[in-house]
Amino acid sequence: MTSSIPSRVRLIDVGPRDGLQNEKTPVPAAVKVELVHRLQQAGLQEIEVTSYVSPKWVPQMGDNHEVMSGIARQPGVAYSVLTPNLKGFEAAVLDKPDEIVVFGSASEAFSQRNINCSIAESIERFAPVVQAALAAGIRVRGAMSCTVGCPYEGDIAPERVAYLAGLLKGIGVQRVDVADTIGVGTPRKVQRALEATLQHFGIDEVSGHFHDTYGQALSNTLAALELGVWNFQSSVAGLGGCPYAKGATGNVATEDVVYMLHGMDIDTGIDLDRLIDAGAYISGFLDRKPNSRVANALLTKRAG
Ligand code: HMG
Ligand code: MG
Repeated sequence: MTSSIPSRVRLIDVGPRDGLQNEKTPVPAAVKVELVHRLQQAGLQEIEVTSYVSPKWVPQMGDNHEVMSGIARQPGVAYSVLTPNLKGFEAAVLDKPDEIVVFGSASEAFSQRNINCSIAESIERFAPVVQAALAAGIRVRGAMSCTVGCPYEGDIAPERVAYLAGLLKGIGVQRVDVADTIGVGTPRKVQRALEATLQHFGIDEVSGHFHDTYGQALSNTLAALELGVWNFQSSVAGLGGCPYAKGATGNVATEDVVYMLHGMDIDTGIDLDRLIDAGAYISGFLDRKPNSRVANALLTKRAG
């Protein structure tokens, strides 16, 4: 089993986007920019910065242009942004993202709540976005929500995940995130969702995006590694939640994933100490402790 475990993992920190989108207190653009700077200084090579969605739906992301244009970009780091439709893409392209993300759902009900359209309609909306991005030389990722469970529909069958993955592949999406939006997944269920996705995408094109609501995200990460998956999304300080998945907490904390991976001799290119500093910075701004067991343990050790 362990022989297929990758020796290197690439993490996308989604803290500035998935992490902060659900925060009620407005976070100034300058703080978001500083967070991105700290993440890149910690060695993150991919950062999901913001989203170009309706500010009426997600006010916290209304400063997308200010944030993207405020970043001092570091060579070798890829900056991605969410774009649900052409309007979002047209705004995003001015800010020169390296990758755009279209985001669909394996569950019909969640698609309606999150992006106000059916799965089929979402694919129709994404298709011209994908075409425009590829024509502009911008990479395209597809996020697939509710691949294990949905807050409205309950369990989601792997066939539904395969169906969505096939649709995304069909419109030219280059890689996909298998998201457990509400963190209900357990290792074998998550593996089935990943295997369903692997019917349409190669192992290098599939990433795990696990929210930690039920405390399963690290186990699910290990289960994904067992399948050879080596791309993951995580959120510094475990920030976050989705505004359309009530009660869902943040993504698995990047600090926790990095600690586990380094303990397994898996290379991430990330400096855990500097990552903890980045998490402490944003947690300090939000006036709370990082939502990461590893960060809190190591911060306590430092203080002692
Ligand atoms: P809609 O209301 O169906 O769209 O929203 P519409 O085309 O009818 O437009 C309505 C209004 O929105 C108009 O403005 C448009 O101009 C404006 P008005 O005339 O009323 O003043 N509008 C926009 N404004 C800015 N940027 C845009 C845009 N598009 C329309 N791109 C829409 C459709 C998708 C825009 C809306 O439902 C929306 O913004 N939803 C927010 C979705 C979101 O951000 N969800 C959280 C991110 S996804 C996530 O967290 C899951 C993930 O992490 C994976 C996982 O864990 O599952 C990725
Ligand atoms: Mg998410």
